[in-house]
Amino acid sequence: MRNARINSIVLGLAAAVVLGGCTTTDPGAGAAVQKREFGRMPDGTPIYEFTLKNSKGAEARIINYGGIITAVRVPDKQGKMGDVVLGYDNLEGYLKETPYFGALIGRYGNRIGNAKFSLNGKEYKLAANDGPNTLHGGIKGFDKVVWTPKVMATLTGTALELTYLSKDGEEGFPGNLNVRAVYSFGEDNAIKLVYTATTDQDTVLNLTQHSYFNLKGSGDILDHVVMIPADTFTPVDSTLIPTGELKPVEGTPFDFRTPTPIGARINQADEQLRIGKGYDHNWVINKKSGLTLMARVQEPTTGRILEVFSTDPGLQFYSGNFLDGKITGKGGWAYQFRNGFCMEPQHFPDSPNKPSFPSVVLKPGQNYNHTIIYRFSVK
Ligand code: GLA
Repeated sequence: MRNARINSIVLGLAAAVVLGGCTTTDPGAGAAVQKREFGRMPDGTPIYEFTLKNSKGAEARIINYGGIITAVRVPDKQGKMGDVVLGYDNLEGYLKETPYFGALIGRYGNRIGNAKFSLNGKEYKLAANDGPNTLHGGIKGFDKVVWTPKVMATLTGTALELTYLSKDGEEGFPGNLNVRAVYSFGEDNAIKLVYTATTDQDTVLNLTQHSYFNLKGSGDILDHVVMIPADTFTPVDSTLIPTGELKPVEGTPFDFRTPTPIGARINQADEQLRIGKGYDHNWVINKKSGLTLMARVQEPTTGRILEVFSTDPGLQFYSGNFLDGKITGKGGWAYQFRNGFCMEPQHFPDSPNKPSFPSVVLKPGQNYNHTIIYRFSVK
């Protein structure tokens, strides 16, 4: 582990040297990483898009604004490549209002109730940006900051490292937090995300990824067949804050233990579906420890399959209920109601205020670690 890390640092330095001012490089055994300017921030700071491509021609694109995954091109059962994530063609789109398309979410994925929490007897007030609550890190979360990029060669190929120092007090959270996110795209058509972080004060942390998927590449996602290995989920109140209960999925539209199309029960008369306007809930994954399969999604016409793995205990499955056709994204597609779905591996929402939920506290000297894999295949 330690050796692998040292190797990846050494190779990373070599790759950085090779990169220089060029737009394309091949720093080692892996496929090429292409780099191009994607746009400029209002203050002129250039933002780059990095394309991680494997030898089969499949690729994932990432920008260093918001750690956003802008495109994922993978084959269907006929071998035809297609983009399976929602987003914009240019930076302006992401700088305007975006429902977190493809973004790296922090410091806290999902909601913290009443925009506050207490830690070690001290109350911290956060920025409220979702009614009374804090959503996805606050007004200017990690999805809206510029990250420092570095292309690295690893033992298994190439990777993009993004780093960011979140200062003590940012959006109300305590502690200077050093965050590192490493994105890689393998020969197995899998995007691997490794998030690590350290702090100089006790704080809370819950990093995740907010890609909206549509495995067909058009239309709604109601035909996608979902499997989530979870016996319980965390029901929410009218502001989407968990009540604290772990509710059995048995006999409810939340039971995805057997693969079921998203649309099969989404319009049932169910109080939780009414509150969420569909699925917008955290499933408590049946897991032991380590990297676990959190969800498997299959789209019948294209045969594309997405499998989600993570080291965290929960999964927010969101069925794109806030999309309403007002956003026109890539290639002129106006994203309508439920044209994309998110699978966000995470700690449970509002954990800082729910002592019964797994802890999200990070202390000085500890290493935060969350790995997410989105693996694509066909059947
Ligand atoms: C998450 C939340 C949803 C919504 C989306 C973004 O999935 O749980 O309620 O905020 O992000 O629109």
